[in-house]
Amino acid sequence: MPVGGGRILRDEKIVVTQPEVGEFKAFSAICTHQHCLVSEVKDRTIDCPCHGSRFRITDGSVAHGPATRPLPEERIAVEEIPSTGRDPPRTLPGMRPETLVRDHTIYACVMGSRAFGLATEDSDTDRRGVFLAPTALFWRFEKPPTHIEGPAAEQFGWELERFCELALRANPNILECLHSPLVEYADATGRELLSLREAFLSRRVHGTFVRYAHGQRRKLEADVRAHGAPRWKHAMHLLRLLTSARDLLRTGTLTIDVGEDREPLLAVKRGEVPWSGFEARMTRLEREAEEAAHHSPLPAEPDRRRVEDFLIRARRASALEAGPYDEVVQGVVRDGGVGQA
Ligand code: FES
Repeated sequence: MPVGGGRILRDEKIVVTQPEVGEFKAFSAICTHQHCLVSEVKDRTIDCPCHGSRFRITDGSVAHGPATRPLPEERIAVEEIPSTGRDPPRTLPGMRPETLVRDHTIYACVMGSRAFGLATEDSDTDRRGVFLAPTALFWRFEKPPTHIEGPAAEQFGWELERFCELALRANPNILECLHSPLVEYADATGRELLSLREAFLSRRVHGTFVRYAHGQRRKLEADVRAHGAPRWKHAMHLLRLLTSARDLLRTGTLTIDVGEDREPLLAVKRGEVPWSGFEARMTRLEREAEEAAHHSPLPAEPDRRRVEDFLIRARRASALEAGPYDEVVQGVVRDGGVGQA
């Protein structure tokens, strides 16, 4: 845990901080304003995503409203883990997940029920992003990560190359992320990625979306056999997914917001639709998606070349940028003796 920072333990709803070396504090991670879970520890404050309240890592007191009461302190025990005698792995500062997300995000959006237009009062805010790891980081044996969970709760990001690979394979989650109506950030590279949206789309989406839906359907059927009812929230998302797959195959456009389907879908989530009616709807959507695949305006394959050209240009531009990694890379080269030739 960084000195001056902290970690949020979501399951325990506790945030642990280290204001000074070796000094640990713990507080409730529930914001005292309207009970959201805090999402980030940054610049010596614990931040709430809902209305911007911030609390000091030293004593949980309010650094910024609207909250007026401090985060209650929690008691924790700190256990010292004996040293193994080995040096900790040397990770370049630029390779750290929080640095990659903070300094190199090219695109960030909100996904999940908020993007689908299905949010209710208790919905989380799921954030997704794409970062471009500086090219110089690929020149070492230790490569940058392909994806990063966090640093905030409900946040997930992919390195650009991994993201492109998955999108070219028509991964439903990735394609949805690329079409989110709630874009929070896009720099010039991110905007170019967005302009390539249609290059990723192909009739492959029939296989991937429907395969994913089949898997979900089997799980729901197993729930019905075991408990007499499915998890209705998952059932709602299955209908949403099949509807967007059918419409994508019919029109060539991926629409994320469910629009006027919101109320009928929320009725499914509330368990107001009988299982037989739900099954019939699911089967009809599968059939319609199948039919649409035969007449789809989508190409058979995505435009892999165009995407690769974009990726190469992004990598090259990053390599040419004078950045903080240049020195490190030169240092590495010299350490290895190459620089002395
Ligand atoms: S709930 Fe945290 S600021 Fe409102």
